[in-house]
Amino acid sequence: MPTLGVNIDHVATIRQARRTVEPDPVGAAVLAELAGADGITVHLREDRRHIQDRDVYLLRETVRTHLNLEMAATDEMVAIALDIKPDYVTLVPEKREEVTTEGGLEIAAVLPRMTDVVTKLQGANIPVSLFIDADPAQIEASAKCGAKFIELHTGTYAEAKSEEAQAKELAVLADGCERAIAAGLRVNAGHGLTYWNTLPVAQLPGMEELNIGHTIISRAVLVGIERAVREMKEIINQV
Ligand code: PXP
Repeated sequence: MPTLGVNIDHVATIRQARRTVEPDPVGAAVLAELAGADGITVHLREDRRHIQDRDVYLLRETVRTHLNLEMAATDEMVAIALDIKPDYVTLVPEKREEVTTEGGLEIAAVLPRMTDVVTKLQGANIPVSLFIDADPAQIEASAKCGAKFIELHTGTYAEAKSEEAQAKELAVLADGCERAIAAGLRVNAGHGLTYWNTLPVAQLPGMEELNIGHTIISRAVLVGIERAVREMKEIINQV
């Protein structure tokens, strides 16, 4: 059975919409762990649109499970990771103009640079996971550059418009998972997973961890709204 890494970026998205102090992703991480999260995942983006440096430093102190830091393979982020020492790092592609991560990393074309980043991080005892499409060339390159893990990009599977297309994408993920394990890599997966499409990915043999964010935070907003309104009414009713 794979473990669940809860991505709390979008708690910070709500906070940054007002640049205030609530909701605090550090508090969200505590509650997620109490509910059974096996790990906490955050993406510190170059533009700091949601998670802030302060969040990652505090999470390093408070997370009791494991902390997965998603980041671009830049010198700035490598320096931050070496300072914070998360339990593992997931390297992701990053474009300023994108709404969210689009597609996996291109490893094969930049093998020396990736090998250098992986070596630096893993040399400091921070295992590295590479977020890639389930493409044989990228899997082979990921093994070559020495990363311990890959994270299979499940976005294409999640966005498939028909059952047939989704089954086809699931087969691609299954093949990728098998190939990666055969190449000595450990396999995580994530992006776009929801309450409706997660189970088939969780069932892939050898799958270790699923990193899931948007669907969980979306559901949290809805399942929490009755209690939140009731608590505000209780305050006003004191008049
Ligand atoms: N894995 C990676 C590498 C990601 O970049 C993201 C999004 O930040 C996720 C998992 C979580 O995706 P979602 O929010 O769609 O569940």
